[in-house]
Amino acid sequence: MGPSGKTVVLAVLAAAVLHAAVLCNGGITSSFVRSPEKSGDMPLDSDVFKVPPGYNAPQQVHITQGDLVGKAVIVSWVTADEPGSNTVVYWAENSSHKYKAKGSKTKYKFYNYTSGYIHHCTIKKLEYDTKYYYEVEGGNTRRTFWFTTPPEVGPDAPYTFGLIGDLGQTYDSNATLTHYEQNPNKGQAVLYVGDLSYADNYPFHDNVRWDTWARFVERSVAYQPWIWTAGNHEIDFVPEIGETKPFKPYSHRYHVPYKASNSTAPFWYSIKRASAYIIVLSSYSAYGKYTPQYEWLNNELPKVNRSETPWLIVLMHSPWYNSNSYHYMEGETMRVMYEPWFVKYKVDVVFAGHVHAYERSERVSNIAYNIINGLCSPVSDQSAPVYITIGDGGNIEGLANNLTEPQPKYSAFREASFGHATFSIKNRTHAYYSWHRNQDGYAVEADSMWFFNRFWHPIDDSTTAA
Ligand SMILES: [Fe+2]
Repeated sequence: MGPSGKTVVLAVLAAAVLHAAVLCNGGITSSFVRSPEKSGDMPLDSDVFKVPPGYNAPQQVHITQGDLVGKAVIVSWVTADEPGSNTVVYWAENSSHKYKAKGSKTKYKFYNYTSGYIHHCTIKKLEYDTKYYYEVEGGNTRRTFWFTTPPEVGPDAPYTFGLIGDLGQTYDSNATLTHYEQNPNKGQAVLYVGDLSYADNYPFHDNVRWDTWARFVERSVAYQPWIWTAGNHEIDFVPEIGETKPFKPYSHRYHVPYKASNSTAPFWYSIKRASAYIIVLSSYSAYGKYTPQYEWLNNELPKVNRSETPWLIVLMHSPWYNSNSYHYMEGETMRVMYEPWFVKYKVDVVFAGHVHAYERSERVSNIAYNIINGLCSPVSDQSAPVYITIGDGGNIEGLANNLTEPQPKYSAFREASFGHATFSIKNRTHAYYSWHRNQDGYAVEADSMWFFNRFWHPIDDSTTAA
């Protein structure tokens, strides 16, 4: 090697040292190497998309919470050939008494697609902490499923939520769902942070892909509620083919109990479940001052009683703290509007999707700026939530692996891999959070953290990350 070669080596070494020093400003950018190849959508004849056997058999069965407190469940399903029955038959595990509830059906057209008969039925007055079986039928074909209601709303009711976002219907999506199902730390309900089927990536937003997605996830969502958040792939706004009503397929297919929390639209609402108060926001509905969502949230946050529900969790699609170049700053305007409230009301954690990677923030806020004072950088703030981006379900658009450098200080951990997470509330003071990447064994935690509740135990929990 000549002198010039040595110079090059030294220069490269110096650059590497400098680079490492700069990166040290932030948290961890994981060095885990995963396959960069995009996986395509599973073909239409995949087993996961199979129509259940039998004439007019109910398909795409899914459940979600049906009231404010977890004593009701909305059961939804589709019949393809004829309307069939709107009735759900249900019974508690240790009881022979069968109840019936009558729902309603709907149908929609989207360009050249016509949906099947979409049924929604709310079953009410359920007992807490009880396993129920339920039956739906179409023609002569009956299918039976089951779910367990949550414990009564209360400050120390333990509960484990799964977190999935931006799932889509690729082979990676299937790996994510399987990992969630096989995770030994069993999730009891899923907090879904938006972007469901990605049907809008097909010509004319081929709504057949809404049907296949619902058949794919039925194996989980027919048995435990998924709490829905609307993402940009739910908008389906295509004026060039005459489709000008935003959220048309999504709002026909996925009902949520928004009226129970005095919301006026299904895109923002809240529920209580066990010891958690969950607020769902819409990144794609108006959120400026005086808008319905703004007024609702302004009234909603003071209602949260942390003596009853210590854990205050917010779901939204577009993240506020995101150090990925993908969708960089898209959540900024909503952050400017609502972040002071999140700090004032001590939100414990905010889960978002949209970015197809994983990221966890430190507890930071950025609310001091007033146009002239120049205070526009995030600062450490123990009243602020942890922001977690979990849009890593594995959809057809692939990974977002172009991270901004250097890693900002507020970013505690980030990695462009597919996976899911769980948030396990133990009692009013502690919750255990872990993120699982698809390449690992089911029990492996790639990132984790003990959360200390912001109301009951508001001390620094940043050192509890493993
Ligand atoms: Fe998105």
